[in-house]
Order: sequence, then structure tokens, then C-alpha cells
Amino acid sequence: MDEKGEKMTNVLVINSSVRSDDSISRALTTLLADRIAADVHEITHRDLTGDIHLISAQSLSAVAKSPEQRSSEERALASLADTFIEELEWADYLIIGSPMYNFGPAASLKAWADLVARSKRTFTYTDAGPVGLLKIKKAFVVAVTGGTAVDSNIDFMTPWLKHFLTFIGISNIETITADGIYGKHGEENIRCAKEKIAGLSI
Ligand SMILES: Cc1cc2nc3c(=O)[nH]c(=O)nc-3n(C[C@H](O)[C@H](O)[C@H](O)COP(=O)(O)O)c2cc1C
Repeated sequence: MDEKGEKMTNVLVINSSVRSDDSISRALTTLLADRIAADVHEITHRDLTGDIHLISAQSLSAVAKSPEQRSSEERALASLADTFIEELEWADYLIIGSPMYNFGPAASLKAWADLVARSKRTFTYTDAGPVGLLKIKKAFVVAVTGGTAVDSNIDFMTPWLKHFLTFIGISNIETITADGIYGKHGEENIRCAKEKIAGLSI
């Protein structure tokens, strides 16, 4: 609350499923956002299946320059990464919907990570090693798979995502898992994820 007694908490919800209405990760991130909405000032939704681009030599060179030094072409190239980083700097809480594709994250989520990992903005190197610079209080990772067990030795999504979030400064991470949704326990696993969300607060 600020001095006027108004809520100050900002939440960023990121989705990366290529599915829409039938996406379980989208349904669960929506449920979680609704669950905490009463305690939140503002929620921003970022859908990574929109116009995300991959990093390139040109985009890396553009973001390495200060905004004043960038040409108009470089400004355009840097603008999406700048926006993604500003969203993270604005957020107090982060919700990420992460469907598993080929044992890892969606390509768009990896592309997002490549764009937001920026020295002196989201992380920095010190004599003691890398230090994350984001001030996000907590991240909720909603991990959804068709058959692969989350945290098994062939899950290259959840450990990677948690490590990356820690790298950029977010160490308080809660995972909500709906794995093996096409298996015989699929419906039950989705129901358990919903139950967990119903008991969550920020
Ligand atoms: C291209 C592709 C690759 C997939 N690879 C895996 C996989 O490696 N392991 C797995 O358990 N499920 C895999 N799945 C299934 C998805 O994880 C599953 O459909 C999940 O529900 C996707 O999340 P969503 O419901 O939010 O779309 C894959 C699906 C697609 C489309």
C-alpha cells in the first residue's frame, strides 16, 4: 500500500503456449492471476506468441549502445527487448505459463530469455560471480507437459527456467505443475494444479 492506502503491487503474466482456448498453461495462469487479483494494483499480460524475434548480431549490437547512440533502425531492433526488460523492472510478481516442447521450453520463451538477459540491467558480473538485478519478489512457474514428468532427468524446461530466473535476480520461485496431462493421471494432475492455485496468495 502507498501513503494513500492504495495497492502498489504489479503483476506480469507471460504466456508461451501456441494453443489458445484449449491451452492448459493459459487456463492455469489465468486462474492464478484471478486468484491474486484482489491484492494487485495492475496486471500486464505478455503473450510471447505475438511478434517476438530472435536475437541477432544486429539486435545485440543495438542493445549494447545507449538509446541516444542508436540509429532509427537500431532503435526499432532494440525496442522489443527494451519493452520486455521494462516489464520485468515494473513487476513485483511474475507468472510464467510454460508448456513443454521437445523436453524444453517453448522457443518463444527461450527467445524472450535471450532478449531480457542484459548486462547491467537484469544481471551483472562481480568478483563473486554473476548477480541478478531484478527486484521481483516472487515468480510462479506454471509447468505443463503432455507426458514428461516435471523435474525428471529428461525435463530440460523447469530446471532451465528456474536457473534463468535466479540468474536475473528472482530466487523466490514457486512451481505449479500439471504434467503428463495426456496420461492416465492427466485430469487429476490438472485438478491438483488448480487446487494448489486456489490455496495460493501473494
Ligand atoms: C511441438 C510440441 C512438442 C511437445 N513436446 C513435448 C515433450 O517433449 N514432452 C511432453 O511431455 N509434452 C510435449 N508436448 C505436449 C505439450 O507439453 C502439451 O500439449 C501441453 O499441454 C502444452 O501446454 P498447453 O496446454 O498450455 O498448450 C509437446 C507439444 C508440442 C506441440
